[in-house]
Amino acid sequence: MYNEKVLKIFENPQNAGALRGANASGKVGNVQCGDIMQVFIKVDDGVITDARFKTFGCVSAIAASDVACELIKGKTLDQALALSNQDVVNFLGGLPAPKIHCSVLAKEAIEAAIKDFRKKEARRNRTATVTTKSTTSSVSTKKCDC
Ligand code: FES
Repeated sequence: MYNEKVLKIFENPQNAGALRGANASGKVGNVQCGDIMQVFIKVDDGVITDARFKTFGCVSAIAASDVACELIKGKTLDQALALSNQDVVNFLGGLPAPKIHCSVLAKEAIEAAIKDFRKKEARRNRTATVTTKSTTSSVSTKKCDC
């Protein structure tokens, strides 16, 4: 059913497990089969420097998770978002037709992780703006002793 490359990646995934220092994650599930995939990413200066996954799922889902994590390393967030399901399937050398939908989870989990990162980044930026404003405000109202 699966080609040799898919089985090899499934048996020895290089990116499985939690990611220390991750600053975002995305979790998605397939309602039909109940499988769950979570992708963790570490982003520095807009570039994904590391990515790992935890997947409860079939051979196809686990192999696709591993490949997707590998393919987004070193990419900007927009480049990672441009990764298609077909890219993952091609890298795997193909998947059986009934298992293509499993690999879609990987793209969705990456999208969810990037959305999570951008949401957190927007929150950090809002906090930084408020902090800057209050700092500026306290400086300008401080009485001068000179
Ligand atoms: Fe559920 Fe593959 S059968 S992800």
